[in-house]
Amino acid sequence: MTERPGPMLDDGAVDLRNHTDGHYARLADGYNDIWSKRSEYLTWMSAEIADRLRVPEGARIADIGAGTGLFLGRLMECASPRTPILCVDPSAEMLRQLPRDPRLRPVQRTAEDVAAGRVALPYEALDAVLIKETIHHLTDAPGTLRGLADLLAPGGRILVVTLPPLLDYPLFQAALDRFATGQPEPESLADAMRAAGLETEYSIEAFPVTIDREHYLDLVGNQWMSVLSSFTDEELAAGLDEMRDRYPQRELRFADRFAFISGVR
Ligand SMILES: C[S@@+](CC[C@H](N)C(=O)[O-])C[C@H]1O[C@@H](n2cnc3c(N)ncnc32)[C@H](O)[C@@H]1O
Repeated sequence: MTERPGPMLDDGAVDLRNHTDGHYARLADGYNDIWSKRSEYLTWMSAEIADRLRVPEGARIADIGAGTGLFLGRLMECASPRTPILCVDPSAEMLRQLPRDPRLRPVQRTAEDVAAGRVALPYEALDAVLIKETIHHLTDAPGTLRGLADLLAPGGRILVVTLPPLLDYPLFQAALDRFATGQPEPESLADAMRAAGLETEYSIEAFPVTIDREHYLDLVGNQWMSVLSSFTDEELAAGLDEMRDRYPQRELRFADRFAFISGVR
């Protein structure tokens, strides 16, 4: 029987943006465990983010689509209870997993709400905005980026961290294909940030992953990526069978590539 079908668009494609609420509510409790065996990656990513945002102590920071705040380690060093990082996310379940720390302030709203000025923020302007692995959930990324850019203080920065449409992940083909259709091209995001008046640059960085095959199959079976929640149980089971055939080795190795798109006002 078909369960959890993704909402369909007019052309029959699955709309990947509108089925995320249930996905993150389901995933939230175990979200941090997904990364528990990848502490080197967490350290690397936290440093990449902090190095690019270059925030001084006391900076006014918003993490848009903050989720559980897993990658905020280095940025938190610059925050204080007087200038907490605003952790913006529509998912109460994800925000509930934030560390209890006065340097983090949950704001249960969307990026669009913040960008349109529908949220009263404790800061008049922002020095840094982080959007990590969330940009693909926005209905109008260019418009939202424009609104967020308008909130920046002079010299303020926006950093978008996102997966490129073409992944090297050892996933089943339909998931790779569907992911690619829902994921914006980094170049188009850079263009949108330039159009919003930001001096923008971007680069692609890769982190090498070695992961136990059974663990990876479990992650996929548990739909760790939101695109996986758009498949029915039968499709997912078939996808896992395809992966077992395609990737028989005990350990899987691949490059986790990220686009870092950074704009300064
Ligand atoms: C893949 S998670 C990333 C969480 C965190 N940034 C990280 O890297 O671990 C995507 C997050 O985007 C949030 N999200 C979905 N739609 C959003 C929107 N319109 N505005 C802001 N956040 C959104 C989800 O609730 C989820 O917590």
